Amino acid sequence: MPSLENHAPKILISEDDISRRVDELAAEISADYAGKGEIVLLGVLKGAFILLADLSRRLTIPRSIEFIAVSSYEDGSMPSGAVRLVMDVRGSIEGKHVLIVEDIVDTGHTLHYLIDMLKSREPASIRTCVLLHKEHSTEVELDIDYLGFTIGDEWVVGYGLDYAEQDRTLPYIGVVKPQ
Ligand code: IMP
Repeated sequence: MPSLENHAPKILISEDDISRRVDELAAEISADYAGKGEIVLLGVLKGAFILLADLSRRLTIPRSIEFIAVSSYEDGSMPSGAVRLVMDVRGSIEGKHVLIVEDIVDTGHTLHYLIDMLKSREPASIRTCVLLHKEHSTEVELDIDYLGFTIGDEWVVGYGLDYAEQDRTLPYIGVVKPQ
C-alpha cells in the first residue's frame, strides 16, 4: 500500500468524465429496468456513497435506497480474501430487484461474498453496478453488469474512495503515488 506522505493525488479520471459515465450508466439502468417496478439500490459503505447519491438522482425508474457494510479480515485470523458483514440491509429483499452499487472491484472477494449472501435471500434479481474495476487484480470470476471504468493496479482515491479515510470527497479519481 502506498504511504500518504507527500501524496498529491494525480488525476486519473476527471470530474467531467465521471459525470458523463454516471449519466450513461443511469440511462442504461433506467432502460433495462423500465416497467419492472421498484428496484432496490444497495450501496456498499463506505466507498459507494457518492456514486449511489449521483446515480440514484439520475435514474428515471422507481427506486429505494439501502446500505450494507462489509470489511475484510485484516488480523490474519482468516484466509486472505475473507469478508465480514459489518452492517446488514435493514429490510427484506425477498422478491425484489436488487442492484448492488459498489465503488471498486479489486480482488473481487467483497462483491463475490455479497452476491452469494444476498442470493440466498431470494431476491427477484441481483445485478451489480461498479464504478471501477482493477481487472488484472481480480482473483474470482464475477459478472459486473454496469461498469464505469477499467483501471490498472494502482491505489485510487476520491469520489467516495479513500486511503486511510483520506480523500473520499475529492471530486475526481486520483492516484496516490506509491512510495
Ligand atoms: P476486493 O474485495 O479486493 O475487490 O476489494 C474491494 C474493496 O477494497 C473496495 O470496496 C474498497 O473498499 C477497497 N479497495 C480496493 N482497491 C481500492 C483502491 O484503489 N482505493 C480505495 N479502496 C480500494
